[in-house]
Amino acid sequence: MKILEDAKIIARKAGELIVRESEKGFKIEKKGKNNLVTRVDKASEKLIIKEINKLYPKHAIIAEESEKTHSKKTFKEAKYIWIIDPLDGTTNFAHGLPIYCVSIAIFKRATTQSTKNYDYLAGELIAGVVYAPRTDELFYASTKKGAYLNGKKIKVSNVKKTAEGLSVTGFTATQRERNLPYFQAMLKKSQAIRRLGAAALDLCYIAAGRFDGYWEFGLKPWDIAAGALIIEEAGGTVTDTNGNQLDLFGADILATNGKIHNEIIRTFEKI
Ligand code: IPD
Ligand code: CA
Ligand code: CA
Repeated sequence: MKILEDAKIIARKAGELIVRESEKGFKIEKKGKNNLVTRVDKASEKLIIKEINKLYPKHAIIAEESEKTHSKKTFKEAKYIWIIDPLDGTTNFAHGLPIYCVSIAIFKRATTQSTKNYDYLAGELIAGVVYAPRTDELFYASTKKGAYLNGKKIKVSNVKKTAEGLSVTGFTATQRERNLPYFQAMLKKSQAIRRLGAAALDLCYIAAGRFDGYWEFGLKPWDIAAGALIIEEAGGTVTDTNGNQLDLFGADILATNGKIHNEIIRTFEKI
């Protein structure tokens, strides 16, 4: 699939730029309380947008650092929408922790009403790429073609009980407290819990069978779009935290290997 191959090349280029630029140093700016951004996030986004515009000038773009890239008209008319996180894991990046990535997803708008309905976007994700430059890991997937890591097919784990699984979560800057009771409940149930600090990688690690369950509240479409498709293509399940269809703009998410999904929903229902 040409568009997937292009997205892979762009994600790699952006990841390489992040590493190169980080070595030159950067200042940390604040977008909000505990919400950081650096010139490297912006440089990565600029590169990605430039490459997309060059190859696909009619496509629309939703990107974290420049939400207003398009007029409403362009956005409404575009058949394809690229959803971009130019640097997921900025806090890690800013502290020199090598857990971060670039996330690029492509959404195809449905001409007729789709069964998948992402808020005002009716349609579906057709391709997703996540590149982690420090480990040189390229995760990707396209609809019905499976999920891959550096060219090798990946699939979710076979863990059947949360008690035998490694869970992961995140605490979005604006909704930290909300997760506390869920964290406590899952801490009691899981073999262990991790918090990596890069939502797109949390999702890819589920797809690769490294983690078994992941949840988080209040994410943005660019955090989860690529990873959600990669998990589904790796045989996992992605919903909101109540077990309903994922709303990319929601964006409370529960992603698992599929086998422990209902058990986690039941745990959450009791909170
Ligand atoms: C953040 C990371 C983090 C998650 C936050 C996100 P950013 O994205 O994915 O793991 O907990 O909610 O905002 O700001 O580093 O792109
Ligand atoms: Ca992010
Ligand atoms: Ca980001």
